[in-house]
Amino acid sequence: MTNELEYHQQLLPLSRAELVDKLRHAMKKKRFDHVLRVEETAIELAKENGVDLELASIAALCHDYAKQRPDQDFIATIKEKHLDPVLLNYGNAIWHGVVGAELVADELGCHDQRILDAVRQHTVGAPYMTKLAQIVYMADYIEPGRDFEGVELARQVTHQSLAKGVALQTKQTLMYLVSTGKPVYPTTLATYNAWVPSNGKED
Ligand SMILES: [Fe+2]
Ligand SMILES: [Fe+2]
Repeated sequence: MTNELEYHQQLLPLSRAELVDKLRHAMKKKRFDHVLRVEETAIELAKENGVDLELASIAALCHDYAKQRPDQDFIATIKEKHLDPVLLNYGNAIWHGVVGAELVADELGCHDQRILDAVRQHTVGAPYMTKLAQIVYMADYIEPGRDFEGVELARQVTHQSLAKGVALQTKQTLMYLVSTGKPVYPTTLATYNAWVPSNGKED
């Protein structure tokens, strides 16, 4: 995929090409390719939902920036920045979004809260998510490389209604965590309560 998007809004001190280059060095090829597909899907969803394409591109590209960092980087950040100590009971699956946003701010120089919230919320959601945050959350789930059972339905639902996509993914995630006996980060449960009962009733 060639992406001709040029950044004009000074949301971070890098061009798209420079950002992509940093990401290429911050992660393995498989994850880097995933990140590019998430960006592609996020741009599609942004067009469908009237969201700024530059915001969608940057948030999608940055969403897994910290995914391959060692645990100690996250633990140090949680302590230094006095983030919720409950985070220490979890691991990379939660940290790379919630704590990863801090590394995106500090290391990539992005201080736009809309982008940072989208990165922060991509693993656990939030009771209130902007359209941008919903887009990153869903693009991560339905990008063309995903092939889990039900992904085609998730794609259809999301292109029809972003909010219904958020509800569907959130419900699936909670069911997976419960059925495998994994801990549920409190925000994941709050996301479920905010999005699923209200979006599951009518259809
Ligand atoms: Fe992620
Ligand atoms: Fe991802």
